[in-house]
Amino acid sequence: MTRETEYTPDKLQELGLDSQRLPRHIAVIMDGNGRWAISRGLPRIEGHRRGVQSVRTIVEECARIGIEQVTLYCLSSENWKRPQEELDLLMQLLEQYLVEERSEIMRQELQFAVIGRRDGLSEGALREIDRTLEVARDNTGMRLCLAINYGSRGEIADAVRRIAEQVRTGEMTPETIDEQCISEHLDTAGMTDPDLVIRTAGEMRVSNFLLWQISYAELFVTQKYWPEFRLPDLIEALQSFAARDRRFGGLKG
Ligand code: IPE
Ligand code: IPE
Ligand code: MG
Repeated sequence: MTRETEYTPDKLQELGLDSQRLPRHIAVIMDGNGRWAISRGLPRIEGHRRGVQSVRTIVEECARIGIEQVTLYCLSSENWKRPQEELDLLMQLLEQYLVEERSEIMRQELQFAVIGRRDGLSEGALREIDRTLEVARDNTGMRLCLAINYGSRGEIADAVRRIAEQVRTGEMTPETIDEQCISEHLDTAGMTDPDLVIRTAGEMRVSNFLLWQISYAELFVTQKYWPEFRLPDLIEALQSFAARDRRFGGLKG
């Protein structure tokens, strides 16, 4: 099913979205799946299941609007504290999502990337991650990046360790370690930093997500739970972003 592109520059303009004022990279903390389910008397996992539909919608709409990258926080390195039953179901859902979405990823020509540590992920999930990375290798569309078993402090520690190793072997000297060098040793090497971070379910925190990379990102927090986050909510976040005055420490431009 190919849908017509509705987001002509005129259409975006109509929505108050000047294409010059769109974020290039949106990172999303998809929170509130559990609360969404509990508030409806459903088991928490139902919230995760319903959240997959929000992922589909938001990824597709972002690609059509012309966003360059969407990074989704799927599982944090701290989420292993949850009951094993929930973790097992999350792994199953991830595996199922990757199998079911592969044809969509190919149809939309999405580039595909994963950040985070592989340890702890189920064999099935790892297999489907690798398959998707392989088939999507030559895609040139929007990049969909999944943060799975991701934690920013762990990522920075890994980067420091790799840099130290290169100094030890003489490939690098301490003087050559600058901000760019650190960026290049993170899981997100080669990606632009997020311009906009969206967090659903109201929490005013970043929960160990992309700490280095979001130094100057704009934050948008909505009360909506992730399973109910849809196109109008995305448009609202984009409109809010478009109205921001990004000064990067300078003066009003
Ligand atoms: C976010 O929803 C998804 C994951 C962290 C995997 P939660 O499961 O954290 O939902 P709440 O915050 O408990 O409502
Ligand atoms: C952040 O949500 C992690 C993901 C969305 C995957 P959490 O629900 O784990 O965050 P806290 O515990 O409320 O900070
Ligand atoms: Mg949560």
